Amino acid sequence: MVFHPKESFLTFRSLVLLTSANWAAIFRSMPIRGNSFLSVKQLHLQDLKSIFETACFFKKQFQLNKRFDDKVIGEGKEQKTVLMVFAEPSTRTRLSFQMACARLGIRSLIMDNLATSSVTKGETLEDTLLNVAAMKPDAIVVRYGQHPELDHVLANLGCPVVSAGIGTAEHPSQGLLDIMTMEENLGPLKGQKVLIVGDVLYSRVANSNMLLLKQLGAEIGFCTPEELAPKNADWADAKRFTDLKDGFKWASVVMALRMQKERHIGGLSIGSYRDQFRISSEHLDLLSSKGIILHPGPVIVGVDFTPDVLKDPRCKVLDQVTNGVFLRAAILAEVLELEVKIS
Ligand code: CP
Repeated sequence: MVFHPKESFLTFRSLVLLTSANWAAIFRSMPIRGNSFLSVKQLHLQDLKSIFETACFFKKQFQLNKRFDDKVIGEGKEQKTVLMVFAEPSTRTRLSFQMACARLGIRSLIMDNLATSSVTKGETLEDTLLNVAAMKPDAIVVRYGQHPELDHVLANLGCPVVSAGIGTAEHPSQGLLDIMTMEENLGPLKGQKVLIVGDVLYSRVANSNMLLLKQLGAEIGFCTPEELAPKNADWADAKRFTDLKDGFKWASVVMALRMQKERHIGGLSIGSYRDQFRISSEHLDLLSSKGIILHPGPVIVGVDFTPDVLKDPRCKVLDQVTNGVFLRAAILAEVLELEVKIS
């Protein structure tokens, strides 16, 4: 994974600090202010606290006044322009980044239909990104599948790049909005038990959640078909459930995932998946009254959930979507070096 440090990052003060510090730790803690945001590994606890504080402030302001742009200042703010390139389909992430720009009072432009782009004439995604960057946006938001060759390109676009979900590695803004929704309902997550159900192997959402939950001291469990169990060593400490009902008895948060059929090699029967892993009222009966159910979306009703699950008051799927706008506005404010007047 690549990052885009600002030249000014290495100030004299930080150089002095670096001489006595672990370089790897410093790299991990690189702040996203004025920089790219491609992995939740860039954020330390203090950064998380600050992002959630800003996102919650935006939410409160919006509930009170239907706006929060008046609380955000910065030189030439109205001229700031975020360019978005979505090479994979999206509803929530795409529109909530655009909505976040609108609510911040900045501009956004989007290319989300590559069928109308010059990719159809043979231009590579690498060249597409270089050309988009040549238009000098203030930041670029990107989503695409597996293109490891683009890692070095993202570092050299001359402006911060924000991941809107890249490959199967991470979906950092989704992970953050999921945590925001959990904390909103349960308070601090230390000691909370989070069960992740479904296609963990191919889910970039699950990876970002796992990294954040570990940092926040939550316990993680997963319940998946054998073929979709995580192989990454980061998951080694997670508790494995073979019976979904046992997982529901254990968990305070259940996060279901969509099967990423577009990434699967070889067929996995939807029918047998549904029989074992679809969440229904018989599972809800086992979840505590304070427990919550999440799903990053899109929910495939009938496969991931029976329809009644979406109507259960413990199901916070639409709250996740609402929080996504505020959370992404908080990320963009950092990346674009805007100042938020929190009061
Ligand atoms: N959660 C998520 O990434 O949804 P979209 O694919 O609709 O953006």
